Amino acid sequence: PSDMLIDSFGRLHTYLRISLTERCNLRCQYCMPSEGVELTPSSQLLSPNEIVSLANLFVTSGVNKIRLTGGEPTIRKDIEDICLRLSSLKGLKTLAMTTNGITLARKLPKLKDFGLNSINISLDTLVPAKFEFLTRRKGHEKVLESINAAVGLGYNPVKVNCVVMRGVNDDEICDFVELTRSRPINVRFIEFMPFDGNVWNVKKLVPYYEMLDKVVSKYQGLQRIQDHPSETAKNYRIDGHDGTVSFITSMTEHFCAGCNRLRLLADGNFKVCLFGPSEVSLRDPLRAGAEEDELREIISAAVKRKKAAHAGMFDIAKTANRPMIHIGG
Ligand code: GTP
Ligand code: 5AD
Ligand code: SF4
Repeated sequence: PSDMLIDSFGRLHTYLRISLTERCNLRCQYCMPSEGVELTPSSQLLSPNEIVSLANLFVTSGVNKIRLTGGEPTIRKDIEDICLRLSSLKGLKTLAMTTNGITLARKLPKLKDFGLNSINISLDTLVPAKFEFLTRRKGHEKVLESINAAVGLGYNPVKVNCVVMRGVNDDEICDFVELTRSRPINVRFIEFMPFDGNVWNVKKLVPYYEMLDKVVSKYQGLQRIQDHPSETAKNYRIDGHDGTVSFITSMTEHFCAGCNRLRLLADGNFKVCLFGPSEVSLRDPLRAGAEEDELREIISAAVKRKKAAHAGMFDIAKTANRPMIHIGG
């Protein structure tokens, strides 16, 4: 195969995150400003055919895992069709989704039949009133229902993403750990990251070591699990628990050296790193009738421009980027 997906530091990119929409049925504070974000006109968003044909280009070049993100991927009416078509791509091993879980419970059985084999659900609080404050919407019980539905359907583990913010939900860490006691849930505590419009502030960031301390002080027998080289998470097992606990330490201990991720945004822009403004349109050449080889050249050149690591937590907070809702994590 070609070296299209190998960057100048020798990192092989086998994981593509596709943002399916810029819209969401929640308004999480850490993801978007209260006034909302500018939406790309729908004619400029990738069509299902365009998504599948670009995904196919990546899969035939070595990508074996696709994660669907958004905005909120489940609000697309054609989400089932997209899952079915992507999961049928030869060479794809994992079709995953990161979702807020608001409408997932009823959609998940079908999505599972259509090839969705891994699910991450965002939930930042176990307190309903706090959920309304954080997401500016109702629906806490629906997210809990979706987590149960995912466990019931046999997803193992069901990953629960919890963005920890000081003074907001850092008092709930041990309550979240309890979710792992008798269910195959992987709770992942995520350091709060800066994005356009999310009023990030270092004081709101709860560092990894501080979160770990809280867990260690209550739970004995915490053991570090050996991570895959391109994991975002530092994973731990707790004696007697069915599930596991992890930390995503993008800010205090980044994991860029093992990065295997690329991003295709809803407007067809290709983004080689979560942070920084560097993007190139794949939609435009695709619509202009570019041959596959031409698209491969554009992708390869962008991958080769990828930096060794993000700029460090204070500099990324100052560097231009998009709002998180456009990137999908
Ligand atoms: P798995 O594929 O299950 O390992 O999930 P993931 O951690 O790659 O993705 P998910 O969508 O669940 O994101 C969890 C957190 O990790 C979010 O805060 C993401 O923004 C963050 N994240 C995902 N990919 C990257 C990445 O490449 N770099 C950094 N710094 N953070 C990432
Ligand atoms: N910092 C860290 N994680 C974030 N996410 C959204 N915004 C942020 C942020 N500012 C998480 C969501 C979701 C995943 C895709 O990214 O909670 O689980
Ligand atoms: Fe990869 Fe960029 Fe994330 Fe680092 S910050 S792990 S280079 S996407």
